[in-house]
Parts: sequence; structure tokens; C-alpha cells
Amino acid sequence: MSSTAESTPTLDILVGQAAPRLGTKGLSKEPRAGWLEAFFKSGGTWKDVFDASDVGAERNLVADKFVAENASVLDVGCGRGFFSFACATRSTRVVGVDPMDGRGRSGWWDEFKRTSAIVGHVHRVSGVRASATSIPLKDGSFQLVASVHSIRNFGGVEEIGGLVREAKRVLGKGGRLVVVESDLNDPGSPGYRAFYSMRTKMGWELDLPTGDEMARLLEVEGFSDVSQEFIETSLDYAPIRFPYDPSMPKGVLDGYKKAERLLDDAAEKPPRICMVSGSR
Ligand SMILES: C[S@@+](CC[C@H](N)C(=O)[O-])C[C@H]1O[C@@H](n2cnc3c(N)ncnc32)[C@H](O)[C@@H]1O
Repeated sequence: MSSTAESTPTLDILVGQAAPRLGTKGLSKEPRAGWLEAFFKSGGTWKDVFDASDVGAERNLVADKFVAENASVLDVGCGRGFFSFACATRSTRVVGVDPMDGRGRSGWWDEFKRTSAIVGHVHRVSGVRASATSIPLKDGSFQLVASVHSIRNFGGVEEIGGLVREAKRVLGKGGRLVVVESDLNDPGSPGYRAFYSMRTKMGWELDLPTGDEMARLLEVEGFSDVSQEFIETSLDYAPIRFPYDPSMPKGVLDGYKKAERLLDDAAEKPPRICMVSGSR
């Protein structure tokens, strides 16, 4: 990753999480104007920022488990590109797929490309605008298909089924599909669950399948060696909070303050990460 003080809203998210940890050696711990310039002048890099952020550290953790050196990766539902960028330091070919521009994501492809250029991944990472249910790429052309915190934004369970079918087609023999999501049944995360349920009520997010349900979808499509792995983490890998807005539906407003209290409770932690994978 290169080191230029130019940023994007995607990179600002990483800087916001990383700055308090990187703000040593006389630098302010607050990410404000001038912080990046000073950070890079002191020898810091975008890779340092990525690795020190919770979002980046969690994507690294998944990439470490599933991306073999130089394996070609298809990142389905790439969004801002956090998982694509984690893969790009391990592989020479990463393709992000996402229908972005609909559902409030106008301009996100430009953002994806600009961010990719700033962090120095532009030659390894490319993007294709498409849905998981119909991927315009050749059969057998990837060694890993990953969907990382993406199915929450799919249009319905049938789209998750479509992802599994298309993954089977574009994977080469022996290739692996991994679907990563939060385990909303984690008893240690009631605040996260409450916020997630409000987001579902507002149509922003889908009811997530459990690990068993996801594993079944892979088995039905003929994936072998299907496994589920759960990882406990304190990383804030998919921030859930959204601002209070009195115009939100009453059913959402009623539980908002309680959900906020739960989330702020010292005992609350981010939900376990659930990784369901299978081989082609
Ligand atoms: C939470 S974001 C992506 C997270 C990203 N993978 C990461 O590592 O941070 C979820 C993404 O899923 C995408 N999405 C929604 N429906 C989709 C579909 N049918 N096929 C592929 N992606 C979809 C959305 O456009 C959005 O960019």
C-alpha cells in the first residue's frame, strides 16, 4: 500500500478507528486535518492504517484463513472494498462484484477505484457491477469466492442461494466458497442484536441465516467438506450504530434508547464472526 495523504470516505473510516492506536510518537490521537500528512511524514503507511483499524484487522483475519498465496479471489458484495484490499496484499488477482449504485450506493464504484488507487492496489483489484445471482465471469476461474458481511444487504434469501450457485460455477475444482457474517445469536452482544433488528425493520438489512442454515445452503448446492467456524472478537468490524432520528417508525424509536444502553454496556462485545465454507 502506498503512502499519500489523499483520502476517501472509505479510508476515513479506517483512519477513525486506527488513529487512536497509531497516534504515538508525538502525533495527535485524533484523526483531524493534518493527521495523515503528519503520520506519513513520520514513516506511516496505508497498510499500517488498515492493519490497525478494527475493520481492516478483521478482514485480514479472514484473508489469513482463506486466501492461499496468489490465489485468485472473487469478493462478492465487495462494497467499499475492505475485504478486497485485505486480499490484495496476499494475491495478484482480486475481483470485486457488487450491484452498487442502487440502494443508496450511488458513486461507490468511483469511490472503490479511487481508494484502490490511493492504497496502491489498482493493478491487483478490479470491479464488476453485477449481482451475486448472475456473475458475468467465466466458469472455473477463481480459487476462492468470498462474501464478507455482504449477505446482510442482499435482497432476500433467494439471492443468497443464487450466490452459492454462482460461486459453484465460477470456482475451479477444489476451490472454496466462504460466507462470513456476524453470529447474531451470540449472547454477549444484545446491543448489537437490538440495533441489527431495528435496521432489519427499516429494510436496511436482512435477517441473517444461522451457521447451520448457511451450511445447509452450501450442502444443497453440492459443496463438500462444509464447515462452520466461530471466532470471538473484540474488534468493531461492522459498526452497527446509526443516529437517532425522530422521524423513524415508532416500532424502531420505542427500542432505540434501550438498544443504545445495551450497546454502551461495558459487558457488550461485537458478535462472534461466523464463517461457513465449503469446497467445490
Ligand atoms: C456491508 S456491504 C459490503 C461489505 C464488504 N464486503 C466489506 O468487506 O466491508 C454489503 C454489500 O453487499 C452488496 N449487495 C447487495 N445485494 C447484493 C447482491 N445481490 N449481490 C452482490 N452484492 C450485493 C451491497 O451493494 C453492499 O455493497
